[in-house]
Amino acid sequence: MSTTESGLPIEPVYGSEALDGWPAEERLGEPGGYPFTRGVYPTMYTGRPWTMRQYAGFGTAAESNRRYHQLVEAGTGGLSVAFDLPTQMGYDSDAPVAAGEVGKVGVAIDSIEDMRVLFDGIPLGEVSTSMTINAPASLLLLLYQLVGQEQGVDGTRLTGTIQNDVLKEYIARGTYIYPPAESLRLTSDIFGYCRRELPRWNTISISGYHMAEAGATPVQEVAFTLANAREYVRAALSAGLDVDEFAPRLSFFFVSRTTLLEEVAKFRAARRIWARVMRDEFGATNPKSQMLRFHTQTAGVQLTAQQPEVNMVRVAVQALAAVLGGTQSLHTNSYDEAIALPTEKAARLALRTQQVLAYETDVTRTVDPFAGSYAVESLTDELEAAAVELMTRVEDMGGAVAAIERGFQKDQIEHSAYDVAKQIDGGERTVVGVNRYVTNDDEPYEPLRVDPAIEEAQADRLTALRSARDGDTVGRALDELRAAAAGTDNVLVPMRAALAGRATVGEVCDALREVWGTYAPPAGF
Ligand code: 3HC
Repeated sequence: MSTTESGLPIEPVYGSEALDGWPAEERLGEPGGYPFTRGVYPTMYTGRPWTMRQYAGFGTAAESNRRYHQLVEAGTGGLSVAFDLPTQMGYDSDAPVAAGEVGKVGVAIDSIEDMRVLFDGIPLGEVSTSMTINAPASLLLLLYQLVGQEQGVDGTRLTGTIQNDVLKEYIARGTYIYPPAESLRLTSDIFGYCRRELPRWNTISISGYHMAEAGATPVQEVAFTLANAREYVRAALSAGLDVDEFAPRLSFFFVSRTTLLEEVAKFRAARRIWARVMRDEFGATNPKSQMLRFHTQTAGVQLTAQQPEVNMVRVAVQALAAVLGGTQSLHTNSYDEAIALPTEKAARLALRTQQVLAYETDVTRTVDPFAGSYAVESLTDELEAAAVELMTRVEDMGGAVAAIERGFQKDQIEHSAYDVAKQIDGGERTVVGVNRYVTNDDEPYEPLRVDPAIEEAQADRLTALRSARDGDTVGRALDELRAAAAGTDNVLVPMRAALAGRATVGEVCDALREVWGTYAPPAGF
């Protein structure tokens, strides 16, 4: 018997006995109805396709702004901002630790001046913008709100998402700053602030993607993501928030692998688990609190540098899996991303892949076409049971943070990654172009390179900003932020005042570092 990526059994043939006595009403429900197995909206894509949301950003704010205008002209439905590592880690571009990374894997944002340039000519009242930012998510959200105000757009009209999921950073990505308790406090402050000021903003994108890219199986991806989600809900409830006030604005983010059938089952199982957790465990009564709305990115780790054109086929299959699985928003990787940042042509082709699925195929004409499938419903049940079992193990350890502090999730993921690597090296797992069907005639490829001169340009911008602003006003605003961080007040209000006065990302994050300290991984990891 063969097994799935999660090690679950997959039958060579499923027959009607697979669904004998199967409680369809309980397991399926209607599209847009509890437990949302078939999708979160009654009409899904028959009314409107998913949002085509291509992750992009590099170099200076001006360069990224140009790419965003290109993507909007090419038909993308929503923006998705990639920030460089210094910004993601809460350092200014002229900090010594930032050397060599400024503008490299995303755009450098040091202040409100950079944010203004980033969105120049982009009507923030008309687009939805995702920002992949975690530990400093509150700062970038406030800078976005401030730039929106300058455009005359009130916060109540702004739509978008901040990733704001630091727990998965401790597990798999590493762009954390503060210890878990302080990070969860900041997340709850963001929930409360958005409830008042930015009611249409998705306050968090609880992510399985990066854990999957680090090697998590589909079961581990769902289980560890939903375990993290439980932790965020508990933190918000402990902060005095009402579950139906903040839960409708939680969102999720998963990978989509080439193994299409298991991925469709994964998305359907994740919706069903989360709906039950929110209704039965947290007492959420608003259906929007029970819906697992998610973004998907195709699997970067499955792209190959060898015969890179073959990646177009992989991405098309992965994108189809996300669509058949009911994603709300989708990023398709560019075929050249295993080599370097995508060229404009490759990025456009990635978007075209989504447009072919949306406008040339018939997958948007009916909701959840796999409903009732012997194979997919069996896989969905199997995956759900395995994910719930793993979630229970995390619960038994005391929840996601306690498990993180034991290194449990990281250890489980590393074992899965090792197994896959061994299978590829041993030839048990075929990777076309890498360990089978290999050729040696790859055409020379000219990758997109980020001009290192931007580091100096950003440093000059910071010097000019610091000399032009009122240093005393910034100093007082930072002192008020420190006082709020040391107390129990919501830190976003004093944080916004500091940013409006042109405090930099590094200065604001440093003020919080002074009060909260920084996270140190458990010994041995
Ligand atoms: N019927 C009724 N209403 C519908 C509908 C339908 N069929 N389809 C859409 N709508 C409505 C929705 O209700 C929503 O209205 P609302 O805002 O008032 O609720 C509106 O139309 C927009 O629809 P969605 O909310 O479904 O779609 P969005 O695209 O706006 O939001 C999301 C999708 C998943 C909820 C949101 O959180 C999102 O956009 N996430 C994106 C996250 C992202 O891009 N992350 C990038 C990560 S890259 C990264 O991490 C780094 C790298 O290393 C991978």
